Amino acid sequence: MQGHIYVLSHPDHVRRVFVDNHQNYTKGIGIERVGILLGNGIMVSEGELWRRQRKMIQPLFHRDMIARMVEHIRGANLQLLEKWMACAEKNEEINLTQDMSEVTLNIVLRAIFGDELETIVSTHGSNPFALLTEETERNLTFAYKFRALSKLIMDCVSRRRAQNQEHCDLLAMLIDARERKSGEPMPDKQLLDEVMTLIVAGHETTASALNWMWYLLAQHPAVEQRLHQEIDSLPAPPATIEDAARLPYARQVIEETLRLYPPGWLLTRRSIDADDIGGYPIAPKTDVFISPYLVHRHPGFWADPERFDPKRFDAAHSAQRNRFCYLPFALGPRACIGEHFAMIEMILHTALLARRIRLRYLSRQPVELECQVNLRTKHSLYMMPEKRQ
Ligand code: HEM
Repeated sequence: MQGHIYVLSHPDHVRRVFVDNHQNYTKGIGIERVGILLGNGIMVSEGELWRRQRKMIQPLFHRDMIARMVEHIRGANLQLLEKWMACAEKNEEINLTQDMSEVTLNIVLRAIFGDELETIVSTHGSNPFALLTEETERNLTFAYKFRALSKLIMDCVSRRRAQNQEHCDLLAMLIDARERKSGEPMPDKQLLDEVMTLIVAGHETTASALNWMWYLLAQHPAVEQRLHQEIDSLPAPPATIEDAARLPYARQVIEETLRLYPPGWLLTRRSIDADDIGGYPIAPKTDVFISPYLVHRHPGFWADPERFDPKRFDAAHSAQRNRFCYLPFALGPRACIGEHFAMIEMILHTALLARRIRLRYLSRQPVELECQVNLRTKHSLYMMPEKRQ
């Protein structure tokens, strides 16, 4: 007989599963599907393998490393700005959803492959990773095509080992990472799975968050105006990780976007042994779904939860909040490893583009949600770019 499935929306229950009794849960059903795409990378692995890999990968996301990635974030966004300025000039609509997918893919690939990305693209005649933006389905056919990129990635790894040149990118750090006790590098298959994991985990989540953010900004002129004031107060376009820290309101806008539309809207776990979640007995091997979407709109913890209001994330409001009410990056030991990278990426993107361009949503059609692995808009959003004075 099929047992119960539980869907959690209360912060106390989130805390039980993600923090207080996290060792009693594996990732469960959602991740079994993702495993076809990501092999045994850190998003999927469990137990000792996960612990070892997490320790080896963590340094990739230290502040110093993120600071070095800012150059890639800027480069990709300035390219997009040029395109939007040209469209504004011609009164031409942009496909925002497509552009967010391309710019975030561009950023994550530049962060991983560094200067070698250009070589990969020119050798191929086009970007072999473009299928991530061209194909929206995340089914077996997609997984098959994506895994076919393995050879290209491993050729890149072999080339680097043979050349023995210095590179400053995430791939170089993965190749050089050593297990603390044994001093061993990760096996090639593991290295490959981790590269694929970073590409997929770092791309679609950020793309969908920024897609929603521009849509919300276009609907809320007062928020947009306050954001513009903050961005305009910087003496020059943001160029460093320190500049991102000078944009607290931009951060709040993004945090509020992630509250209303968390890309990871439904996270799954499976119990190992029996548990008790808020008085509900949980049998071993029970599927427990944690919904950031529901927690983030819980009327017991958020005032007027459907309203877009970045003020909720100012220091005063944040200090009063139960910290298990907000989990766009999950919580506890399995929380997102790329959170700080993603936040810097999204703040700089917003500041670099909104400094010069405003986007208008002209369609009268209400936006529809698509709730697959990520929470996306069902259809591409078309927006009209306008130059700001
Ligand atoms: C808006 C952007 C992002 C959001 C909302 C987000 C959200 C999440 C969430 C909710 C999880 C936990 C999944 C679960 O428990 O099943 C996660 C895990 C993960 N994320 Fe992110 N993520 C974002 C960006 C990134 C970026 C930029 C990277 C890397 C370049 C990244 C890499 C990862 C990895 C590797 C994991 C697995 C960590 C582990 O299990 O130890 N994410 N992310």
